[in-house]
Amino acid sequence: MQTAERLKKIPPYLFATLRNKINDAKARGIDVISLAIGDPVDGSPQPVIDALAQAAQDPENHRYPTDEEWGMLAFRQSVARWYQRRYNVELSPDNEIIALIGAKEGCHHFALGVVNPGDTVLVTDPGYPGYRPSIWFAGGEPYSVPMLEKNGYLPDLTSIPSDVARKSAAFFLNYPNNPTGAVATRPFLDDLVAFARDHDIAICYDNPYGDIVFGAERLSFLNAPGAKEVGVELNSLSKPYNMTGWRIGMACGNPDLVGAIAKVKSNTDSGVFNAIQYAGIEALDNGDGFTEQMLALYGRRRERLLEALKQLGWEKEPPPGTFYVWLPTPEGYDSAAFCDYLLETCAVVAAPGAAYGENGEGYIRLSLTVPDERLDEAISRMTKHLSRFRFPG
Ligand SMILES: Cc1ncc(COP(=O)(O)O)c(C=O)c1O
Repeated sequence: MQTAERLKKIPPYLFATLRNKINDAKARGIDVISLAIGDPVDGSPQPVIDALAQAAQDPENHRYPTDEEWGMLAFRQSVARWYQRRYNVELSPDNEIIALIGAKEGCHHFALGVVNPGDTVLVTDPGYPGYRPSIWFAGGEPYSVPMLEKNGYLPDLTSIPSDVARKSAAFFLNYPNNPTGAVATRPFLDDLVAFARDHDIAICYDNPYGDIVFGAERLSFLNAPGAKEVGVELNSLSKPYNMTGWRIGMACGNPDLVGAIAKVKSNTDSGVFNAIQYAGIEALDNGDGFTEQMLALYGRRRERLLEALKQLGWEKEPPPGTFYVWLPTPEGYDSAAFCDYLLETCAVVAAPGAAYGENGEGYIRLSLTVPDERLDEAISRMTKHLSRFRFPG
């Protein structure tokens, strides 16, 4: 059967590959603990579940959610209240917000709405593995912008060659950052706006971990003066409210870019189930306490993990954002080989850094989204099996 040429460029999806490895090990009777995927297991807030159950009873919500093409006005108003409260950012529900089926959908439809075939698109390396396929699907060519530890994992915008910047249509970035846990700073966001303005580049700032910060300032790209002139921010209810399976998020910012996403969406997916939008309103309006509880939980898990790793000589400063820990691999192992070693000896699954880009090589990513007792078990296995290694400090 013929399939499209464009699919040949797309590598197997990282987490599908990892899931296969996990299933293989389970089939061999191994008690596998996956610290690979950032998918909270602690359940969504009860009031959100109740709001969905109630909204699902109303036949009005069983119809196409297309009466209000950019998502229900009530949902967009709730997003506007949330941005005001969270970030002190003002957004118009009329033309600066659209409901998404998650930030991942937003990446894809942003690319289809903005990138022309042959366009160069800047993308950080390491970076979320979803960006490149979205760029390829739109016919664009990704250009890697290194994100290095020595620069706090912020890209050096001045190192992007001016001919590349000139021909670039868009730039995908994400802070708090998956996989490194780095956060952005206000001066960096100011520089990013100036860079985008100077080179006429549309920014796709992916911020689904915006709430998952430890001691750092909660920052939106839209906090930077002029940001709305050059870009959109994607956000999501997946991570702050443990709602990964619900598939709901939002794109906010520049009306032309939001409109471009809307045009692609209205010809593609018809929007988010209204009952889920009602549940989303409940989360956004009343879920702050839930997010704080999750942050405290991740904070405790992070401390336990980092303390145990320190005992192994695997010292790591606590990352300021996300529920991931990004760790250098020991001498003699690249990221894939060390992940295989972890799986074989500890039955612990980690995400190999190389899957996030060339500059991710030499690192692995562990996620704190497992129950406490599973994390403790993973820690005790690693403590037992990894003591012979020399880890970079
Ligand atoms: C950087 C980044 N962007 C987007 C997503 C997808 O989020 P959503 O569940 O909102 O589609 C993820 C999920 O892990 C992510 O890490």
